[in-house]
Amino acid sequence: ATNRTFTMIKPDAVEAGNIGNILKMITDGGFKIVAMKLTHLSETDAKKFYAVHAARPFYGELVEFMSRGPIVAAILEKENAVEDFRALIGATNPAEAAEGTIRKAYAKSIGENAVHGSDSDENAAIEAAFHFAGREIF
Ligand code: CMP
Repeated sequence: ATNRTFTMIKPDAVEAGNIGNILKMITDGGFKIVAMKLTHLSETDAKKFYAVHAARPFYGELVEFMSRGPIVAAILEKENAVEDFRALIGATNPAEAAEGTIRKAYAKSIGENAVHGSDSDENAAIEAAFHFAGREIF
């Protein structure tokens, strides 16, 4: 069935001027944008968003990175959205990302990896609700 995933274009990719290139890969990949904004996570927001990673050694670095500049947050709609979008973005580590993926093209490192994609339908709904009010979703 048609369903939804949540994505962020992360600060590294916004800083590098790659918003347009990444949105083109997303829409060329068959995803429909049903919500989107340029926003900025405060340190408190980033801590909350990534609370699931709080025990990881890279948590502090991740929070600092994700709050250092603006991001694009969006909700995407497609058949099999979560799985297909994770295929389009590629492996977390860009050195392992397949040719043709967003991270292969634009990610700098395992931490500064250009884009986020939800890892389950449940998390997609939680992450979408973190960023968007109902009236912002079309
Ligand atoms: P993402 O999968 O979108 O969400 C968790 C993020 O944690 C991941 O992207 C990376 O940005 C970051 N991350 C994962 N592993 C590491 C690591 N070993 N070092 C630094 N950051 C990491």
